[in-house]
Amino acid sequence: MKTNGQNINNHVTQVFLSNLSQVIMTSVMMKNILLLLWGMASAADITTSTTTVQPPQRSFEIDYENDGFLKDGQPFRYVSGTIHYFRVHPTDWADRLQKLRRAGFNAVQTYVEWSSHEPEPGVYDFTEGLDLEAYLQEAQKQGLLVILRPGPFIDAERDMGGLPYWLLRINPLMRLRSSDQSYMKYVNRWLGDILSPKLKPYLYENGGPIIMIQVENEYGSYYACDFAYTAALRDLYRSKLGDKIVLFTTDGSGVGYLKCGKIPGTYATVDFGAGGDVTKPFEAQRLFEPRGPLINSEFYPGWLDHWGAPHATVESSKVCKSLDDMLALNASVNVYVFHGGTSFGFGAGANLGGTYQACPTSYDYDAPVSEAGDPTQKYFDMMKVISKYLSIPSGPEPKPTPKEAYGDVPVIPIGSLFELAEVSQSVIRPWPVSFEDLSVQNGLVLYQTNITFMVPDPARLSLNDVHDRAYVFVDENLIGVASREQDISTLPIFAKVNSTLSIIVESQGRVCFGSGINDLKGLLTNVTLNGYQLKNWRMTPLPLTHTQRFKKGIARMLERGQDIVSRRLFGTPQGGMTFYWGEFDILDNPKNTFLRLDGWTKGLVWINNFLIGRYWPVVGPQQTLFVPHGILKMGPNEIFLLEQEASPCSSSLDCKVVFVDTPVVNGPTPK
Ligand SMILES: *[C@@H]1O[C@H](CO)[C@@H](O)[C@H](O)[C@H]1NC(C)=O
Ligand SMILES: *[C@@H]1O[C@H](CO)[C@@H](O)[C@H](O)[C@H]1NC(C)=O
Repeated sequence: MKTNGQNINNHVTQVFLSNLSQVIMTSVMMKNILLLLWGMASAADITTSTTTVQPPQRSFEIDYENDGFLKDGQPFRYVSGTIHYFRVHPTDWADRLQKLRRAGFNAVQTYVEWSSHEPEPGVYDFTEGLDLEAYLQEAQKQGLLVILRPGPFIDAERDMGGLPYWLLRINPLMRLRSSDQSYMKYVNRWLGDILSPKLKPYLYENGGPIIMIQVENEYGSYYACDFAYTAALRDLYRSKLGDKIVLFTTDGSGVGYLKCGKIPGTYATVDFGAGGDVTKPFEAQRLFEPRGPLINSEFYPGWLDHWGAPHATVESSKVCKSLDDMLALNASVNVYVFHGGTSFGFGAGANLGGTYQACPTSYDYDAPVSEAGDPTQKYFDMMKVISKYLSIPSGPEPKPTPKEAYGDVPVIPIGSLFELAEVSQSVIRPWPVSFEDLSVQNGLVLYQTNITFMVPDPARLSLNDVHDRAYVFVDENLIGVASREQDISTLPIFAKVNSTLSIIVESQGRVCFGSGINDLKGLLTNVTLNGYQLKNWRMTPLPLTHTQRFKKGIARMLERGQDIVSRRLFGTPQGGMTFYWGEFDILDNPKNTFLRLDGWTKGLVWINNFLIGRYWPVVGPQQTLFVPHGILKMGPNEIFLLEQEASPCSSSLDCKVVFVDTPVVNGPTPK
């Protein structure tokens, strides 16, 4: 990414690179000239060997002589599309992969997300939606090759760019994405001991679909420029996966990116979006790979969104023109993304542009296949372009997925976040500590302290460095909100001796790109009241990601709420910081649906204990949440909401949400 003119990161990256360039130019330039020569020499070696050695039965290699690939000894090029398995419910994998193949694509590209597979050190998850092997098998079954990008860093608008948050618990100052030993220790275990043995049987040469593996991800956009690190990753893959698998890198299409991104002995590719002359960006690749296939590893048919900023779109005609131009050059192309899916749970990350910008739950991306799995006009237009170069498999007409408008569902307030806190474990420390220190991957933490001295009226509360959003309560009355996005960290408060100050801090997603990825969450500095540091804090992580503990907390809440319907709305007069519960029946096979939250403000939604993600319709552009049929069931279905700010209810009896059959991801946004 980051080479598209629409992207704010591009600007940031450039400023960043120009600052950095003075530092790295001299030492790196020299080194790169040597590496370039080295790379050309190794390319020549490989060319010689392919002309003299008879290719084995199943082989996949770069054809330096003819600027392409050889698959089983035959000329080959790929037209691939990205579908992240971790953004699609597993019941929909087959459908989305089939739609990819049906449009003429012959490969699927996906990242592998370390943070999801190793949620805590040494704890691994490859089940259900994280069953990577099942995904690889499904791809192969659908007649697709696989281009795998295991990072370890992936960006992808994911929390912390796919790196596990606990790395920052182990060492908040860890030099991520570098040869820092405290980091490499965990990279080696994850990629070397855990992931590689799983991948090996799926390599093309071993009968599987994987033809290429990406090393790191747009590493040339990162400040560290640590060649020892990228060489170590290359060597790790080589030692675990053998010397046949094609290793590659992807970088922005400029010398400035490629100079730190290129790794000797791996093949350098570039990424860029639609519009303009496609030969220009490939010239950058040619500086580093004089021979071999032209490859755009991330061709953007749309673009990413941020909360509060207009939904990004790219015209189909522009996309198709560039695609056609690239294919006419015999380039291999991967469309990023063919189908974006959804950043379920706390998966969404954030960018640091001019300010902190959180990514929404939808990853629709204006892609050829929409978030709900529907082929768009762009899909059919791209199929037509591809048909000029590759044969389109026959099969049924690609169709939109079945939808259902399940209608209004009444919900009732069942308790406040403060009540969940009362039944949760807390930690007491003299000073505030980060989410990471509290072993909180994401979500919300309640920070509390008592005011023990007399203060002026009003008093100035300074939170200084808050990541990312803090709801400030005095004696459980909401005073205001501090916001990293809006650069608001000081609030006037009314308080007296013995008042309890409660601050509910929300992580809106860790930064996924650039130099800001050491993005600790919570109250990161001392909090002051008119200049005096507030001491003795009780910190209570709210169990929102731990399903069992969450269920227990909610169950206790339900038990305690004898007379639920007559209870007041909690937290704020508008019913903020309140859990709402509802039930709806589905009479036949569940279908995809969209949750509309008109009048609701900001919060989280669970359906049948599956955390769909964050909603925030008041800033847009996303107005509806995609609810995949795979989490619904025939019979009663359960919905929970945590509304952080204001509900549309005038009493506990008239709250509702509505399930509709049409998405809105391009709603209005603030000025
Ligand atoms: C593309 O490949 C074909 C077949 O090898 C070749 O004839 C043609 O000249 C190539 N086109 C370009 C632009 O390199
Ligand atoms: C604040 O004071 C109350 C009442 O004395 C006490 O129960 C509570 O634990 C105190 N909170 C903190 C964070 O010290």
